Amino acid sequence: MKERDLYHMRKDYSPEPLTEESVSRDPFMQFGKWFHEALSTETTEPNAMIVSTCGLDMIPSSRVVLLKKYSPDGFVFFTNYKSRKGNQLSQNPNASILFFWPVTMRQVRIEGTVEKVPESESDEYFSSRPAESRATAIISKQSMHLDNKELFEKEVSAMLERVDNGGDISDILARPLNWGGYNLKPHLFEFWQGGTNRAHDRFEYLKESPDQPDWTISRLYP
Ligand SMILES: Cc1cc2nc3c(=O)[nH]c(=O)nc-3n(C[C@H](O)[C@H](O)[C@H](O)COP(=O)(O)O)c2cc1C
Repeated sequence: MKERDLYHMRKDYSPEPLTEESVSRDPFMQFGKWFHEALSTETTEPNAMIVSTCGLDMIPSSRVVLLKKYSPDGFVFFTNYKSRKGNQLSQNPNASILFFWPVTMRQVRIEGTVEKVPESESDEYFSSRPAESRATAIISKQSMHLDNKELFEKEVSAMLERVDNGGDISDILARPLNWGGYNLKPHLFEFWQGGTNRAHDRFEYLKESPDQPDWTISRLYP
């Protein structure tokens, strides 16, 4: 099969443009509008987002995680605090998250600083997860080298068996302290709407300091 010509592969979009009149003054409202539209238009994982982090070595790294909550306080995802991203965030709390919704040709960039969510919130979400996911999260040393996958799976199965045999689920499958949520509190948003002939619409919302009351909104060149 002939390889696709990536240089010239292009798609034109004719979506509703984003304009000075149509963008919300409040980036959380604008996010909510697009997120709800993504929930009905995107076929897979509309809440998947790319989280980029950078530790003291100044080498950035990115991976997909799932958005579990958003509010004017920030954007929450859950992970292992001792993973590669967890270590980087403990060294440098600045992070970015990125959503790409291809059906409507939209991209949202959000930059800010992260904090761990309260333990009670991590407990609540962890205990709502299926037993298999909890056992896997407990046994997994996320991002460390795994030499024997079979052994890992056996450990997960053994943990689930203890529950099946009448063990106390809240004790056996308790949230490990190294697993929990991060909340990213934004100081920058960018909403990108793909347009025709590459005349894309981009709107940036910026707060230069946390006590700045209103967001500064600017249109950016595509
Ligand atoms: C669709 C999708 C959803 C994911 N959701 C999560 C998640 O919510 N939390 C998480 O820790 N990892 C999630 N992952 C796995 C991460 O991409 C990554 O492999 C893992 O967090 C380890 O990253 P790190 O080594 O950079 O810390 C997801 C991966 C994909 C493809």
